[in-house]
Amino acid sequence: MTQHKLTSCQPLIVGIGGGKGGVGKSMVSSNLAVQYALAGLKVIIIDLDFGAANLHTIFGLRQPPKSLGDYFNSPRSQLANYLVKTNVDGLQLVPSSGFVPELANLRHQQRVKLVNHIKTLDCDLVLLDLGAGSSLNVVDFFSMCHAGIVVATPEPTAVVNAYEFLKNVVYRIFFRMLKNNKHLTLLLKQSIKPNNALGIRTIADLIREVRKHSEWAADTIEDVCNDLCFHLVFNQARKTSDLQLGTKLNEICRKYLGIQLNFSGMVFFSEEVPACVYKMCPISLAAPDSVTSKTLKSIAATTFNRIARQLMDENAPDSFDQQIARAGHSIQTDFERNLLTQKRLQKMRERQYLTPAALEMVGLES
Ligand SMILES: Nc1ncnc2c1ncn2[C@@H]1O[C@H](COP(=O)(O)OP(=O)(O)O)[C@@H](O)[C@H]1O
Ligand SMILES: [Mg+2]
Repeated sequence: MTQHKLTSCQPLIVGIGGGKGGVGKSMVSSNLAVQYALAGLKVIIIDLDFGAANLHTIFGLRQPPKSLGDYFNSPRSQLANYLVKTNVDGLQLVPSSGFVPELANLRHQQRVKLVNHIKTLDCDLVLLDLGAGSSLNVVDFFSMCHAGIVVATPEPTAVVNAYEFLKNVVYRIFFRMLKNNKHLTLLLKQSIKPNNALGIRTIADLIREVRKHSEWAADTIEDVCNDLCFHLVFNQARKTSDLQLGTKLNEICRKYLGIQLNFSGMVFFSEEVPACVYKMCPISLAAPDSVTSKTLKSIAATTFNRIARQLMDENAPDSFDQQIARAGHSIQTDFERNLLTQKRLQKMRERQYLTPAALEMVGLES
């Protein structure tokens, strides 16, 4: 992941993944894209959820004029020709429309072609909105990015999915790194299996076994784990104590994968979000003053700063626990303000004395 260092003419590439479907990857990626564009960056967001492409609808396009399906179907295509304007200055979209079966299993070469084209795009930042699950498509794209944002809901199932997703990403990086060494590739394959005969349960165990064969490979795995740059966003949270699951996920990632997460922030469940989906407009544009939009703005700034500093090899960021502790106060305030908004919306719905237009004014569909 961080093996590609930034050069002055390459955009920063950030993947948004997380394992489970419906947790809010597209909501987070579309709104971060809007926030970065509003902050003055030239941004391109690419819909890589080939099974359930929906970014174009989030940005108000019922039928996009062109899509990634056409790009992959024409051998000489250039990604730059598949950009579609959005209604935000500085933000363009590469849509994927409908379900295109041949996209579900792209060949490695096709993925490499796309990533090579992404690197030549004329912009500052490229966001990849990835599909659910840990298919090779999803994991490969994520592991080719400079940095990754993991979106999860604070529920045990989603957190387990996020962990499995990260494990697949980390192993994908190791497999690519050691692909020329048959023996170590075999060792990696064995080590993935639960209860493997080598007794490998953690990355520390793996490094110990790899070191018996190659000092270089063991050191490289250690370096990769230290350099990996993943940022956790909790979405659709209901209470502040949901944060504890984040701490748990970080502990498990540290123990079993040898990686440390960054805590980007927590977005609370808000009825305004699905209302904006109906309006076909990201909440950051439709309701910029809402608690949700302000939280997303802060997540955008925090994450970008951390990624940039890490890629420039600046001092290591605070630990996950320190980051959570620092964010605690604003999360409590967000929670209280969000609760008031939800109660207000609920009341308005119960007492049906507001017209549809009036409801729209406060962000809720009739
Ligand atoms: N913070 C939130 N509060 C309420 N609903 C949300 C929130 N985030 C996402 N949603 C809703 O959850 C659904 C799934 O979100 P989406 O971004 O499409 O998930 P994914 O891309 O992970 O499959 C959408 O209907 C969206 O409106
Ligand atoms: Mg999605």
